[in-house]
Amino acid sequence: MEKTFLMIKPDGVQRQLIGDIVSRFERKGLQMIGAKLMTIPVELAEQHYGEHKGKPFYDNLVQFITSGPVFAMVWEGENVVELTRKMMGKTNPKDAEPGTIRGDYCMYVSKNIIHGSDSTESADREISLFFNDNELVSYNKAINSWIY
Ligand code: TYD
Ligand code: MG
Repeated sequence: MEKTFLMIKPDGVQRQLIGDIVSRFERKGLQMIGAKLMTIPVELAEQHYGEHKGKPFYDNLVQFITSGPVFAMVWEGENVVELTRKMMGKTNPKDAEPGTIRGDYCMYVSKNIIHGSDSTESADREISLFFNDNELVSYNKAINSWIY
C-alpha cells in the first residue's frame, strides 16, 4: 500500500490544530501507521529540506521547522501521496482553495501548517529520515464494501 510522510509544522502544533488535521485524513479513509511529537534537530531539517538549499527562503525554513515541536506522521492508503497533497492545498496559502488545510487554516507561505511528500520517492526518503521500521505499525481495519 502507498505511504506518505506528513508533518504538522510548529505553527500547527502551537495553534492546537493536530486533532483537526488528523481528523480530516481519518475521515477521508486514510490510515495513520506511525506518529510522534518531536523537535527536529537542525541536521535533520537540512537533510529533509536538502532540495531547497541555496533558495532565498531556505535559512528561514530551517529556522522555522526547528523552532518548536512538530507532529510527524506516516499515512497509508490508495494514492495517498497525491490525495494528501490535494487535501493540503497549494504551497502558498494565498492560492490554496477554501476546504483545503492550508486554505482553511493559514495566511503565509512561511507558516503554512503542514508538510506532505510530493512523490512516492520523496515519501520513501522522508519516512526513512524520520522513522525506524519498528516505529511503524501494520493493522487491518474491518473492511467490506461500505466500511473502509
Ligand atoms: P516546497 O517544497 O516548494 O512546498 P511544499 O511544502 O508545498 O512541498 O517548499 C517547502 C516549504 O518552503 C514550503 O512549505 C514553505 C517554504 N517556502 C517559503 O517559505 N517560501 C517560498 O517561496 C516557497 C516556494 C516555499
Ligand atoms: Mg515540498
